[in-house]
Amino acid sequence: MYKISQRRYLGNKNSILPFIEDIIQNEIGEFNSLCDLFSGTGVVGSYFNNEKKKIILNDLLYHNFVSLNAFLNKETFNKEKVLKYIDKFNNIEIDEDNYFSQNFGDKYFSKKTAQKVGYIRQEIRNLFLNDSLNRKEKNILLTSLNYSIDRIANTVGHYDAFIKKDITKQKFEMKKLDINIEENKNNEIHNQDANILVRDMECDILYLDPPYNSRQYCDAYHLLENLTLWQKPEVFGVAKKFDRTKLKSEYSKSKANEQFDDLISNAKCKYILLSYNNMGDKGNTRSNAKISDEEIMKTLSKRGRVKIFEQDYKEFNTGKEKRNDNKERIFFVKVER
Ligand SMILES: C[S@@+](CC[C@H](N)C(=O)[O-])C[C@H]1O[C@@H](n2cnc3c(N)ncnc32)[C@H](O)[C@@H]1O
Repeated sequence: MYKISQRRYLGNKNSILPFIEDIIQNEIGEFNSLCDLFSGTGVVGSYFNNEKKKIILNDLLYHNFVSLNAFLNKETFNKEKVLKYIDKFNNIEIDEDNYFSQNFGDKYFSKKTAQKVGYIRQEIRNLFLNDSLNRKEKNILLTSLNYSIDRIANTVGHYDAFIKKDITKQKFEMKKLDINIEENKNNEIHNQDANILVRDMECDILYLDPPYNSRQYCDAYHLLENLTLWQKPEVFGVAKKFDRTKLKSEYSKSKANEQFDDLISNAKCKYILLSYNNMGDKGNTRSNAKISDEEIMKTLSKRGRVKIFEQDYKEFNTGKEKRNDNKERIFFVKVER
């Protein structure tokens, strides 16, 4: 069984969930709704999810939207049917090429695994189009497929490059997902730009975890995005990326501060929690934070007094830049104006 946290994702907050919980307990106490506006994997929203709370989740990337829906929306599904397809997919033998194997076979995956993955992706599309799967069942199978290939991909956790190792013995295995529908009944899930969604949304706690450097998530996860969208676009370069112009985040560009200021001034909530890394300009250029501490403080102070909480953490990166002075920081504001 796959839990929502069982994927590799840059900047995921799985290891600091108790830290976030402590801040909420000490500074806020009870609350009814939480919006995880830059959800990524969704582990933060999921951690606070229960049948009494409303959790709003959102991410710009479609494959995250699909997995957030699979784990956290209230739609019903037929468990036996999903298990039947997972079992069927795990046991099929495919030796014909398809879009996925032609582009990614013998690169991130063995040719055989890639043939199987492309075949399964097409089957999920066909089964959905002929009404054999409902939307939830489709989202569960796609998410299981993504989590399964993430475990065996010939990468360091993202798809900027593949590494040299023996991939002939990759063991592809889809599994069911750990889903508790009863807890999901009040949840809402979106696939929008955060600055647009924030204008139409209200919540008690607004948790913000935007990208903090120039590394675009659509570059790191282009392969999962491509497989999930399944529009079979042309791919380029050694890493085999598709054209991601429409998926680029403003938070990883030079005007990140203006975006952030716009977001905060439009937030309708009682409390704001912001995660933002403290790499400053100590790392390499791509790792440098896009919004300075001064800019963060200036923007947040417009809405109330800012408190900063810190905890040491291990950074998930390519392993090349070992840094042990990282602090995970949460900026906290009780909204007063
Ligand atoms: C640091 S990650 C969030 C990690 C997440 N908290 C977790 O634990 O998995 C930032 C996320 O913001 C998303 N993102 C970037 N720009 C966005 C935007 N303008 N609107 C919505 N989501 C955005 C990225 O796709 C990425 O998943």
